[in-house]
Amino acid sequence: MKRRDFVQHLCPSWAVIQVLATANACVQADEPVTDLSASEIQEFERVAKKYNDEGYFQEGNQVFVNLTNPTFSKLGNNLGYVNILDAGVLLLRTDEKTLKAFSNCCPHQGIRGAWVFVNGRFRCDNHGNSYNVNEVNTVSCSSNSISGGLQRFTVVAYKQFLKISKI
Ligand code: FES
Repeated sequence: MKRRDFVQHLCPSWAVIQVLATANACVQADEPVTDLSASEIQEFERVAKKYNDEGYFQEGNQVFVNLTNPTFSKLGNNLGYVNILDAGVLLLRTDEKTLKAFSNCCPHQGIRGAWVFVNGRFRCDNHGNSYNVNEVNTVSCSSNSISGGLQRFTVVAYKQFLKISKI
């Protein structure tokens, strides 16, 4: 399993996790949903009380996300996406089992808040350039690139939480 892919193992569908997670019925298992090390699990537990009202917490190059926060409800839909503007992260559901994270810095001129997802690509409406989400010809933040792919970040999942590493 690619560690960048968030794979749900605890519930049969996102709709179920959305409904049941608030009642703590879906996350009863103490087992991680990926092959996390003990130190990685401890890291999730260390930040458990640090999430802001929008459901995320940033520390250095890492962003922790609580998927049960309403901020992330759009990720319940296939091809739903959320721009965590201040944290520099675009989250995208690409299928029922996969969430991907990308830099929200436009490879053209660095605008972060003008993204829409259209025809399988993120388009920055500042100048209308669009970028793939398949890591084909990945281009860097603010590199004056008008095509190519967005920089993808690693995602690790634990229960209803994600850790995104922006490196
Ligand atoms: S800044 Fe995004 S397309 Fe120009």
